[in-house]
Amino acid sequence: MNAVSIVPQPSPSSVVAKFLKRSPRLFIGGEWVEPTSSDTVDVIDPASGRQISSIANASKADVDRAVAAARKAFESGPWPDMLPAQRQALLWKLSDLIDANAAELAELESLDNGKTRMMASIIDVPGTREYFRYMAGWATKIEGSTFQSSIFAGPGPKFHTYTQREPVGVVAQIVPWNFPLAMAAWKLAPALATGCTCILKPAEQTSLTALRLGELIVEAGFPPGVVNILTGLGEQVGAALVAHPGVDKIAFTGSTEVGKIINKAASDTVKRVSLELGGKSPVIVFPDVNMEAVIGGAANAIFFNSGQVCCAGSRLYAHRKVFDQMVEGLSAAANAIRLGPGLDQQTEMGPLVSREQQERVLSYIESGRKQGAAIAAGGDAPAHEGYYVKPTVLVNVKPDMNVVREEIFGPVLVAQRFDDIDEVIRQANDTPYGLSASVWSNDVSTVHRVVPKIKAGTVWVNCHNFVDPSMPFGGYKQSGFGREHGHAAIELYTELKSVCMMV
Ligand code: NAI
Ligand code: MG
Repeated sequence: MNAVSIVPQPSPSSVVAKFLKRSPRLFIGGEWVEPTSSDTVDVIDPASGRQISSIANASKADVDRAVAAARKAFESGPWPDMLPAQRQALLWKLSDLIDANAAELAELESLDNGKTRMMASIIDVPGTREYFRYMAGWATKIEGSTFQSSIFAGPGPKFHTYTQREPVGVVAQIVPWNFPLAMAAWKLAPALATGCTCILKPAEQTSLTALRLGELIVEAGFPPGVVNILTGLGEQVGAALVAHPGVDKIAFTGSTEVGKIINKAASDTVKRVSLELGGKSPVIVFPDVNMEAVIGGAANAIFFNSGQVCCAGSRLYAHRKVFDQMVEGLSAAANAIRLGPGLDQQTEMGPLVSREQQERVLSYIESGRKQGAAIAAGGDAPAHEGYYVKPTVLVNVKPDMNVVREEIFGPVLVAQRFDDIDEVIRQANDTPYGLSASVWSNDVSTVHRVVPKIKAGTVWVNCHNFVDPSMPFGGYKQSGFGREHGHAAIELYTELKSVCMMV
């Protein structure tokens, strides 16, 4: 049913077409510089599978140059001398430029990632603008504390003791391809609010909006070297940043597999590390709910952004009394979703980001089928160019199947039933991940019994996938460590210094 409506990708606007023709450049020390090698990575439109541009695959020498520029900007020049209010003003200026260029950014994001231009226009781009605005405010609100120590050094001396927060230094920020621009903002904004300098490494599949953001950073007037942007392959550019002795902190969002590699590699130089990794988030539905609203909510929980969301609600646990109705409703919702290219106005769900991701997701569906799962909706790719996968609902699944245990990162839901609260809490926590969960019930005591037992960094009640710059976000268990957003993000990018003065 989803297959018949797919149309070809419409042509991009002339502004975007011009941007795509740009030759590969790196953003180092405030300049758009030639990469030291001619090595490039193809930029592919996932709706057609065709190459639309190319980006540089930065070399180790480029990484050295970027780290040197970021170090110089951190240690000397205007940035370390700037008043917090000036950093705030720069961040706000950048947010205004994002607003002024919103249409272009949304179009670029859609072409590069596959998501619909509509979604990019109402979620990614305004979310990015608001993120910079929220973090702009923190620049002027970073505080330490004074405290009463009991240090005894004989009868005369007294002590004045206090703490202050200082920027951690040169930060390398490695981000994934599912929300390219927004992920760049989640990383850059708090680091810049605190006075760090940054080297951003966007995902090789989706670097275009980060490069456009680099141009807006110049236009906003950030001093040279405060933000540097290196495109290229993770195993090359990302790994060189993680190993580099000139980098003080790594902030990473991506797979748990790479998060583990980074955490090990960063330990050689005892870098600060924050990791926001994968998830396999449960959606727990009790029988007292309004079924229509919950079916819509659970469908969004898994199908939003084609399921390429770290906190996607990918494991449904529905109470036995409502299980059949949930599966029927979700399957109907899945079948009704209109697949198509991101720039087509009618499209409700775009392709996955890459052939690799499409193959990965299809091979999960196949492995579920082989292990005995049944397909209630979707289950394959439409016969069409582009990296589409039909929204899929799997039933008859068992807790030990790969499709239940592993992050699929596509529009694939596994549905299971439960009978009582203790059983569903056990099932929900039976995972190496702990990024998020949602609980759907209007019974206050049910909600309050379940929420404290769920081992996850965010628990939504009667909603799913909502994030806010003020609300800490991050994982328990193998979903990572460190919390982004809010005051927690300021802590991630600062060192705490104690000052002890004998008076
Ligand atoms: P990935 O973890 O390999 O890529 C994320 C970022 O890490 C990219 O910028 C990449 O260039 C970089 N990277 C890769 N290897 C690196 C290394 N050795 N050192 C430093 N940086 C490195 O994710 P990938 O391969 O694109 O997707 C694989 C799976 O990861 C997905 O199917 C999904 O399950 C999960 N994933 C989770 C995300 C999340 O938001 N939690 C985002 C993207 C992927
Ligand atoms: Mg990878």
